[in-house]
Amino acid sequence: MNVYEAIERRREITSFLPEKLDEAVLEQIVRSGYLAPTGNNLPSREFIVITDREQLIHLSTATPFMKWLAAAGAGIVITGRPDISKYWLQDASISSAFIWLAAEGEGLGAAFGAIYHSEDEEESEKRESYVRKALNIPSDRRIVTVMGVGQIGEKPKPKKHIPFEQIVHKEQF
Ligand SMILES: Cc1cc2nc3c(=O)[nH]c(=O)nc-3n(C[C@H](O)[C@H](O)[C@H](O)COP(=O)(O)O)c2cc1C
Repeated sequence: MNVYEAIERRREITSFLPEKLDEAVLEQIVRSGYLAPTGNNLPSREFIVITDREQLIHLSTATPFMKWLAAAGAGIVITGRPDISKYWLQDASISSAFIWLAAEGEGLGAAFGAIYHSEDEEESEKRESYVRKALNIPSDRRIVTVMGVGQIGEKPKPKKHIPFEQIVHKEQF
């Protein structure tokens, strides 16, 4: 699958078959996040890969919006380091997109569980603490997302996109 096909086909998959993922495939997907660019090429994000079913079930309640993680083949936590780079959030986010597309390229599905909450520090603290405690993540790391990756259960209904012309401006806004 070329990169355009992966981009066109990609959806958020929230229905997974609780099957084990091939280790080499999972490694390659995580490597795609690791190879994603960062501002000033600084190592401002890290990844924690989880395949333990009990831990996936535990993490699936970090927020009310990621129940799908309980059945995923793997969870990939992406943390950011504000002490290393002012671009930590962008860096972590870009790596999540690479992971998402790599999963698509492997015929797998991925979902994004938002942990970091930029508008509500209290809610962010609650979510991040939950994940931090479960995985022993140092206190200087921010926890951006837990992505779920796995074999696709149900596919989502076709998506209606906002017209391209409404979103993309040429030469001027
Ligand atoms: C920054 C961001 C935060 C998201 N947070 C969640 C989340 O907490 N839970 C969830 O199930 N999906 C989450 N999503 C997935 C989006 O809801 C989904 O990608 C969007 O509805 C578009 O659907 P599509 O991915 O199928 O194109 C998030 C996506 C992004 C980019």
